[in-house]
Amino acid sequence: MDVKALLLADPTRGTRYSGEVAGIYLNYAKQWLQEEDWEGLEAWAVRMGWSQARQHLFQGQAVNRSEARPALHMALRLEGPQDPLWVEGQEVHAVIKAARAQMFDWVQRLHERTWLGSTGRPIRHLIHIGVGGSDLGARLLVDALPRAPEAPAVSFISTLDGVELQAAFAQADPAESLIIIASKSFGTTETLLNAQAAKAWLSAAGLDSVAHLVAITSESERARDFGVSSDHILPIGSWIGGRYSIWSSMGFAAAAWMGVSAFQAFLAGARACDQHFLAQPLRENMPALLGAMTAWYRCAWGIQTEVLLPYHQRLARLPEYVQQLEMESCGKGCTQGGEPAGPTGMAVWGQVGTRAQHAFCQWLHQGSDVVLTNFLVVAQVPEAEAAHHQYVLASALAQSVALMEGQRDQPSPRTMMGGRPSTMWVLPVLSASVMGALLAFYEHKVYTQSVFWNINPFDQFGVDLGKVWAAHVLPHLAREPAKVQLADKPLDPATQAVIERLNT
Ligand code: F6P
Repeated sequence: MDVKALLLADPTRGTRYSGEVAGIYLNYAKQWLQEEDWEGLEAWAVRMGWSQARQHLFQGQAVNRSEARPALHMALRLEGPQDPLWVEGQEVHAVIKAARAQMFDWVQRLHERTWLGSTGRPIRHLIHIGVGGSDLGARLLVDALPRAPEAPAVSFISTLDGVELQAAFAQADPAESLIIIASKSFGTTETLLNAQAAKAWLSAAGLDSVAHLVAITSESERARDFGVSSDHILPIGSWIGGRYSIWSSMGFAAAAWMGVSAFQAFLAGARACDQHFLAQPLRENMPALLGAMTAWYRCAWGIQTEVLLPYHQRLARLPEYVQQLEMESCGKGCTQGGEPAGPTGMAVWGQVGTRAQHAFCQWLHQGSDVVLTNFLVVAQVPEAEAAHHQYVLASALAQSVALMEGQRDQPSPRTMMGGRPSTMWVLPVLSASVMGALLAFYEHKVYTQSVFWNINPFDQFGVDLGKVWAAHVLPHLAREPAKVQLADKPLDPATQAVIERLNT
């Protein structure tokens, strides 16, 4: 697509194909969309009931059809009195309010150093154990936002190989540490094995582990069975999806890091984005527009991947966060009605822009596939980060210009056809409220895609299948034949061959 020609043919396109939500400016004038495509997108939205679907999400209808549940992440950002909403015997707004108050009270106690460990010393280090949606959001916020003056240190453990575990234990004094077991299901193997290791670490230091363990879960019974005391459990509603949960108790470590008022600003930023999403028509609705555009690229152009290039090290974890949100939500094979789905879900990937330029941007410019590219820049940075800021901004803008312009008048190894689509995101600053708006933006983008593709973005049966097979495979790895006999399923010859190799 000759994007440059589109821009030259319509001098207003450069500014008209842009918009703003909660201070975040987007310019999508270098995308392939043309005026006539809007009609198609708007008709598609009407056909799929997009306008009603966003109301259904907000109103708490069972939009997660395969699990007959609502998805109430927007309710986590609401403020002030609300009409009662009953789900599974709970009044949602009251439950959210109580959990938030409890979380803020915990944060306050940590900041005042009145949360004492079993030896009477104040807690100064949080060790957050979780994975997927119970890990990525808090990690991203701790990287992206400044530490409040009295905040405890925070370490994260998600992998099973022991590397993060050893690093966290090396930095922390067990007598001053609080282990956060973050698992909505309290059934995730990785998290439970790491939590057990943390419990052993506390015991080895001669501490009463109960004083040093807290859980964030919707399965409090399981947490208690593990050894967490009832008053150390922060609840999370079953109606909150794991990858949509950073706004809930799941954000405890992040709230402790940034402080209560910053976390409130984070929620307020998301709320502003929610209001925009609920009120604006498709063409002015930034998250919906980007979602509709992604759906269109996937279905009309066969484009399969979307890349995120944040031009700031503090956003290094953003691609990983969005990757789970997008791919776990939209990687689906059947429609809401159970029919085979058409093309769905883009692969989402990315890296800090300046590093990506010297790694994979070559592939974006000259590779045989077109990639939907997103550049994210921060307009204002703190003094300490300002030295190279103009170069950073110039790099991002230059990449987007080069993708569009190409280089057609050069001999073949140097030829680039250009016309490669990109969106430029300008975040005003890296603040809690901007982060809230940004993450809520992606949730609404994903939801819009799911409506256009008629898929359920709130289940993850593919992930669940992997967990089932892990249980079948594990006994085969035992070296003692008696244990191998406990295996309940034979494995295929290829997997068996690898196991034999591992066991030699
Ligand atoms: O990866 C699958 C998944 O179920 C995610 O959706 C979730 O965020 C993650 O595992 C962790 O689950 P839990 O919080 O139940 O441990």
